[in-house]
Amino acid sequence: MDKKPAFKRYTVTSALPYANGPIHIGHLAGVYVPADIYVRFLRMNDEDVIFIGGSDEHGVPITIKALQQGVSPQDIVDKYHGIIKKSFEDFGISFDIYSRTSNKIHHETASEFFRKMYDAGQFIEKISAQYYDEATGQFLADRYITGTCPHCGNDKAYGDQCEKCGTSLNATDLIEPKSVLSGNQPVMRDTKHWFLPLDQYEPWLREWILEGHKEDWRTSVYGQCKSWIDQGLQPRAVTRDLDWGVKVPVEGAEGKVLYVWFDAPIGYISATRELTPDWEKYWKGPETKLVHFIGKDNIVFHCIIFPTMLKAEGSYILPDNVPANEFLNLEGDKISTSRNWAVWLHEYLEDFPGKQDVLRYVLTAAAPEAKDNDFTWKDFQARNNNELVAILGNFVNRTMVLTHKYFEGCVPAAAEFGDSDKAALEAMKQFPGRIAASIHAYRFREALAEMMNLARLGNKYLTDNEPWKVYAGDPVRVGTVLNISLQICAQLSIVAEPFLPFSTERIRQMLNLSSMKWSDAAALNWLPAGHALNAPSLLFEKIEDGAIEAQVQKLLNTRIANEALQAKAPVKPGKEVIQFEDFSKMDIRVGTILEAEKVAKTDKLLKLKIDTGLDQRTVVSGIAQYFKPEELIGRRVSILVNLAPRKLKGIESQGMILMAENTDGTLYFVTPGEGAVNGADIK
Ligand code: MF3
Ligand code: ZN
Repeated sequence: MDKKPAFKRYTVTSALPYANGPIHIGHLAGVYVPADIYVRFLRMNDEDVIFIGGSDEHGVPITIKALQQGVSPQDIVDKYHGIIKKSFEDFGISFDIYSRTSNKIHHETASEFFRKMYDAGQFIEKISAQYYDEATGQFLADRYITGTCPHCGNDKAYGDQCEKCGTSLNATDLIEPKSVLSGNQPVMRDTKHWFLPLDQYEPWLREWILEGHKEDWRTSVYGQCKSWIDQGLQPRAVTRDLDWGVKVPVEGAEGKVLYVWFDAPIGYISATRELTPDWEKYWKGPETKLVHFIGKDNIVFHCIIFPTMLKAEGSYILPDNVPANEFLNLEGDKISTSRNWAVWLHEYLEDFPGKQDVLRYVLTAAAPEAKDNDFTWKDFQARNNNELVAILGNFVNRTMVLTHKYFEGCVPAAAEFGDSDKAALEAMKQFPGRIAASIHAYRFREALAEMMNLARLGNKYLTDNEPWKVYAGDPVRVGTVLNISLQICAQLSIVAEPFLPFSTERIRQMLNLSSMKWSDAAALNWLPAGHALNAPSLLFEKIEDGAIEAQVQKLLNTRIANEALQAKAPVKPGKEVIQFEDFSKMDIRVGTILEAEKVAKTDKLLKLKIDTGLDQRTVVSGIAQYFKPEELIGRRVSILVNLAPRKLKGIESQGMILMAENTDGTLYFVTPGEGAVNGADIK
């Protein structure tokens, strides 16, 4: 694209979390903190912006949870909508509206949207055979069916996705499908559904994304879109045989609802309608910039499917950017609700009351912007103690305390400026522009680091000028130094506000300033001489080892509980009896891994070179999620050597490494005992 349109207003959305559980640090880091930083920054710039959030209250995970707990789906979503909404408020996520998709206005909006497309003939109507549970008289959509994943063998894959290998599935792909409702094997029965013909939009998607957004979308977002489009897009069913959701507004569609991923993003529009009668200007008209904040698992829905819906409907704008984040891990492991491997926001606030900004800071500093990142309690402590306390807090506090000590809490006049003063003032001028540029480019980590550099500058300026030593001989000079230091505090209270809204409010309270605009940040004269300050108080406090150990212990307890559950988890049922001859056909040897490397463009595969005693050969093994290549060199393994070779990703694999697999899918080597040499026969 040659020229960017100038935008008059912004519509900023953040993914609607499913109302089937509370939210954790992964949600905050991936979506809501960056979105909130962006929006607060825009508001400080007097931009016309709306920030949309809400709960996603449809979909099978919710009805299954209701079923398990013997309550209605509405009970489930009422409960979690309340909990989630409160967590967002507590952490200062400043939505203009936090709505929900069980609202009437949403049902109407989603219905109208579907109906308009339907009337324009934009769906394909198709009768196809789908799984049906005869015992309960129900079709089995998405997660109502489980079975074995054809790609990775996980026997708990769902009808829409395998969570182990991440592949998106159709229910009919599953091996040995089972109904979640009755446990029975389902039968096939014909049913009618409406499909969005994504294939017809492929040329348009290529042009709009692959040509139009190569430069400005994140590489990971662009890359995922490209790979989806290059694989060839298929028509996608947008209706389901379920009774929880938005009813399909057509005759002959009784007992059918819109697919949750069709209705949920329309929730952004419904919420805007609920917010303001003037909603159309935020969704129609090219002078509005639409930005979706999401996690990487939502990319295809926000970059391909929803835009196709918007385009097909015809009256809406398209997203200008979709700054999706990668995932945040916790102490080296994937965050998991079912394994309770998470830091829940409501629990964090019980343990660290008033420390919202600390978490906002740490999650921004370690935001998974370009790759997955790890949250550790040690890092949390270090960033609090060494950065927030030692740099930002310390600088503001020293400045305030010294001003009270030497000038009775009034801003002293600045006298003549020396070189270090001029250098500090000159440097200060650069910060607002640099931080703004990073925020506009959705580089929030970088913006935060710049903000901290301003606090570092202040700290160093104060330390270099040593007012506590100079005062006795030259109080006028100290006046100048503190005047400049106070201006830096004031500037910090502006440029740190998008990141640390609670703390900057307190800085301004101490400085006796009212709220300020971003454009004020370049001025450097907020505090005239004689301006009276309020009493200082500490912005941040040190977090002691004990508090961190308690958190680590809590996670350790979770791990122990999970392992106990795992130990009790039923092992896989035994297999049928075989004869000795069957077994003895297998040639299993002791081997040693000589080389290991990841297979390009896969998450799971490693290419290994193995000394089998007979020869050195190549084996491709699906263990990359559990082992790093460099850990494997020299490792002794058991290897099946007479398995017919097969090609994986173009590499010929000559054999198979034996692995033990727990029911949770974790993998372990079957390691030969000490003394067995390469080539030793395992029998
Ligand atoms: N509920 C979905 C999730 O948590 C996100 C929905 S985003 C929306 O993954 F656009 F569909 F609302
Ligand atoms: Zn799988």
